[in-house]
Amino acid sequence: MRFTPAVPERAVTLTPLDEAGLARLLDAAVADSDPLEVMPPVDGPDGWTSRRREAFLAFHRKRTLDPATAVERTWVIDVDGVAAGAARLERHGDDVEAGIWLGRTRRGRGIGKRVMDLLLDAAKHSGAKRFVASTTTGNHGARGLLTGLGAAMSVNQDEVHAALSLLESG
Ligand SMILES: CC(C)(COP(=O)(O)OP(=O)(O)OC[C@H]1O[C@@H](n2cnc3c(N)ncnc32)[C@H](O)[C@@H]1OP(=O)(O)O)[C@@H](O)C(=O)NCCC(=O)NCCS
Repeated sequence: MRFTPAVPERAVTLTPLDEAGLARLLDAAVADSDPLEVMPPVDGPDGWTSRRREAFLAFHRKRTLDPATAVERTWVIDVDGVAAGAARLERHGDDVEAGIWLGRTRRGRGIGKRVMDLLLDAAKHSGAKRFVASTTTGNHGARGLLTGLGAAMSVNQDEVHAALSLLESG
């Protein structure tokens, strides 16, 4: 007998960030995240103030979209074609650093795992030798995700660092 899952498999894809994607990403962030989860702190009252929305756009333009200042590649995480978060890869010498955030309602459903696999694939094609990521000791979601990759984990006070060789021999 054929097993039909109660929740159909979602299509998880990475769309390279552009201005249209950035507008979709901001909408997803505002609807489903706290600013501190997805961007550096900005002074002022809590929540998605107009100042924070502008800072979110400026942050991604500077780090990804403006060729004069770009330091990383960023993708919109699309789930069935709807923006659900962002993924990034930043090169540091032989290392490539990964980062992900998902909207709160999207977490804990295996999406992060699938995005990490896509990022790992992109990292392998980038010529980097090591895939690295950092989080904090209290971030159980990120720690679970990184441990599941088979990365070597090290703890320094409240910081957790993960590293995975991208070389064939491991
Ligand atoms: C971190 C994050 C991207 C994980 O994505 P996710 O879709 O929630 O994770 P998944 O559902 O794919 O789970 C991946 C693994 O982590 C485990 N995990 C997920 N959330 C967990 C939690 N809160 N506590 C413990 N383990 C957890 C899962 O059980 C799974 O392990 P398994 O493969 O052995 O079953 C997501 O929670 C998030 O966006 N958090 C806020 C932003 C953030 O902290 N980013 C840092 C990334 S370095």
